[in-house]
Amino acid sequence: MFKISGIQKKWPALVILGFLAIAGARVVWVFPSASNQGYAPEQPIPFSHKIMAGDFKIPCLYCHTGADKSRHAVVPAMNVCLNCHSVVKADSPFIQKLKQVYADGKALEWVRVHELPDFVYFSHERHVSKGVSCETCHGDVKTMERVVQVAPLTMGWCLDCHRGATTPPEVLARVFPRQKNPKGPVASTQCNTCHQ
Ligand code: HEC
Ligand code: HEC
Ligand code: HEC
Ligand code: HEC
Ligand code: HEC
Repeated sequence: MFKISGIQKKWPALVILGFLAIAGARVVWVFPSASNQGYAPEQPIPFSHKIMAGDFKIPCLYCHTGADKSRHAVVPAMNVCLNCHSVVKADSPFIQKLKQVYADGKALEWVRVHELPDFVYFSHERHVSKGVSCETCHGDVKTMERVVQVAPLTMGWCLDCHRGATTPPEVLARVFPRQKNPKGPVASTQCNTCHQ
């Protein structure tokens, strides 16, 4: 005969707690936090928006030619860089690397920063044409040495603006040009707007 000690009486409860902890951990593991907010990967060469778009004031659309007319803003091809860098800063080791990659018939493999899951439909043109600024969704890129994802890009974040809750005043004014104090929904919140 053995006496049931305190800990032996408690062990079923401990086992259950243990299972719950593991189950909890698995739930977190199966559904990882969907937001990449704060993501700022290193790039193949240290391309600085602070220098290009900030100090030298090259317009965003000079390089991101799709942003006002198509779904994708587009990351510029290397011949866009070489418009200037065949001459500008030709002695920089980064520019030399860029030219070498180009001469080899390859392209720099920029690491994607912002990326929605495949089941979400998004179009730059629809937003930019209604006066939603790049900064509203991407932060103050012209001050960034390295691009960082500032916005959460979660469904709630999209919906808050579509509903009118976080819509910038200049966007409300553009969507409702004839209203004095425009408010309210600026875009659809129906599921198939973004999930087609
Ligand atoms: C001289 C060309 C150039 C100009 C001007 C420029 N960009 Fe870029 N942009 C790039 C390149 C190249 C990349 C890819 C490398 C990187 O992420 O830094 C990029 C990346 C980005 C990204 C991240 C893309 C991703 O992978 O998610 C955003 C957002 C962005 N640019 C916004 C802007 C905004 C806003 C402006 C204007 C304030 C601007 N850019 C001006 C060349 C440019
Ligand atoms: C409209 C002209 C223009 C275009 C287009 C342009 N740049 Fe630049 N870039 C500049 C200028 C100006 C500087 C600053 C030169 C200086 O510091 O004197 C610069 C600096 C740089 C530097 C820093 C070099 C160093 O060693 O200090 C890098 C890297 C660079 N650019 C990469 C790129 C890439 C990649 C692209 C294409 C996506 C690009 N640039 C497109 C004008 C341009
Ligand atoms: C309403 C929010 C919003 C606005 C406004 C916006 N973007 Fe984006 N941007 C996004 C989202 C979301 C993604 C990721 C898209 C995806 O994964 O399909 C993205 C991706 C990008 C990329 C990566 C390449 C691509 O096309 O997917 C670049 C570059 C970029 N944006 C630049 C810009 C520039 C420049 C502007 C202003 C002219 C701008 N964006 C305005 C939300 C926005
Ligand atoms: C800062 C405000 C804002 C944010 C953030 C925003 N949107 Fe929008 N969205 C708008 C506005 C304004 C329109 C344009 C409505 C119009 O054309 O009248 C729009 C239109 C759209 C449309 C086209 C709607 C239609 O009826 O065809 C889609 C799709 C869309 N947004 C998806 C997204 C997704 C996905 C996100 C998040 C990743 C997002 N939006 C984030 C303001 C926003
Ligand atoms: C304005 C755009 C927009 C609308 C409208 C929208 N969604 Fe989403 N949805 C998104 C985005 C963006 C994501 C990706 C979010 C992420 O990765 O965090 C998403 C993700 C999801 C997911 C995946 C689970 C998750 O949280 O990652 C489900 C399920 C979903 N949406 C269902 C719906 C349903 C149901 C509706 C209608 C009631 C709806 N969505 C309306 C933009 C939208």
